[in-house]
Amino acid sequence: MKMANSKQKCFLIISFLLCVFEHEVKCENDIYSNLIDNPIFNKLITEDHESTFKSQLKQSAQIWSQSILQQNEDISLNITQLIKKNNYPVEEYTVTTSDGYLLKLFRIPGNGPVVFLMHGALCSADDWISPGVDSGIGFLLAAQGYDVWMGNNRGNKHSRMNTKISPSDKSFWDYSFHEIGYYDLPAMIDFVLEKTSKSSLTYVGHSQGTSVFYVLTSLRPEYNQKVNLMLALSSVAWMSNVVSPPIRLVGQFNKQLESVSSALGINELLGDTPTLRLIQRAFCGNNVTAFIFCQHFTAILGGFNYNQTNHENLPVIYNKFPAGASVKQFVHYGQLVESGEFRQYDYGIRNIEKYGSLAPPSYPVEKITTPIAILYSRGDWLASLSDILIFVSKLPNLADFYVIPEDAFSHFDFIYGKDTKGVVLPRMLRMINRYGQ
Ligand SMILES: *[C@@H]1O[C@H](CO)[C@@H](O)[C@H](O)[C@H]1NC(C)=O
Ligand SMILES: *[C@@H]1O[C@H](CO)[C@@H](O)[C@H](O)[C@H]1NC(C)=O
Ligand SMILES: *[C@@H]1O[C@H](CO)[C@@H](O)[C@H](O)[C@H]1NC(C)=O
Repeated sequence: MKMANSKQKCFLIISFLLCVFEHEVKCENDIYSNLIDNPIFNKLITEDHESTFKSQLKQSAQIWSQSILQQNEDISLNITQLIKKNNYPVEEYTVTTSDGYLLKLFRIPGNGPVVFLMHGALCSADDWISPGVDSGIGFLLAAQGYDVWMGNNRGNKHSRMNTKISPSDKSFWDYSFHEIGYYDLPAMIDFVLEKTSKSSLTYVGHSQGTSVFYVLTSLRPEYNQKVNLMLALSSVAWMSNVVSPPIRLVGQFNKQLESVSSALGINELLGDTPTLRLIQRAFCGNNVTAFIFCQHFTAILGGFNYNQTNHENLPVIYNKFPAGASVKQFVHYGQLVESGEFRQYDYGIRNIEKYGSLAPPSYPVEKITTPIAILYSRGDWLASLSDILIFVSKLPNLADFYVIPEDAFSHFDFIYGKDTKGVVLPRMLRMINRYGQ
């Protein structure tokens, strides 16, 4: 086959953009119609998506014309610099896991209860900070006087180190959310408790940050005592009813994803490389292009909601995200979509050797005794109600089930939304006041 010439490439790109522009969801429906048999999906796409998009675009364009080509200076600041710039103290620590990974922890020290924040897949501690001092959950909790700790899982941009293996080795990337829960979380939690001389902390997880907690506390139940409350912002465990089109695709093609990426030697996804940074600068560098290109990248994954667009900080948010993940994390999630179970990684015929059984063992979530508060939103394409209900029915200690009052509030609005302070924070504080110490 002849390579497409530049005109053809241009055409391809433009038609893709038009597709996103014109009505992102209509195109989606054509492409994925055979995959999406979930009635929730169609219900979520309301007619006012189009009109809201247009008015938000107009707003973005006005903002842009007022500040043409002026770059938000926060883009070039890293997480510690952003925290300092907003007049908060910041500390940085490195923790070594029992299997040799070096993980970076950031802390905004405070006199209040210890709160440990754990990001989702492809994310990093930056995502609690990059939405700005009025929206970033790290800042909001620090403003309340909490002792805020932010973790980073192995392989993300802050934690690309191991005492024995290098990220250029395939084996470095041989982990899914299972290992993050089993090895990374206990290393970080023990470190925080030792450093603060506390016997327990409050855990806040977003997305994969919740899955890894369920892995830890079901397989190593002694950790339940070390956490006085777990706040689940978008709880992800059972996944067969997931709405997100890309994740449904990964569910359908998880075996191909595994074999093709392995054959091509691709073990890492969307890592923080100079090329990616250049693309981010070019496409996500200002309010308008970040709104058009970068926000849609996460919207296709996690749901559309222009109402929470954080215009001011979009360029900062999308110059920190994505922070890299292993391919295996996604293959494992794809397996959950396909199997309809919340269970360990499926190695196929090697399951016998690994687990002594044909099927991978399920995570015994009935052993999770930590009080869990779930914050759920109807507009979240990665955590659907029917899946959460399966989880909740097995859970011995559900402390709270809160439905976000804004219907379209999406998966990424939990961290990037401009009004996390009004929509998410009050419920979090109420629960921490009741359970935290
Ligand atoms: C942030 O940048 C400063 C100045 O270049 C550097 O000293 C610091 O190590 C950086 N921190 C992180 C977490 O990258
Ligand atoms: C838009 O971007 C400019 C330059 O990056 C920034 O100074 C401004 O605060 C942003 N404004 C809004 C409302 O988004
Ligand atoms: C849009 O967001 C604001 C807060 O930022 C909220 O008060 C309002 O109810 C939201 N509107 C819709 C339609 O969800």
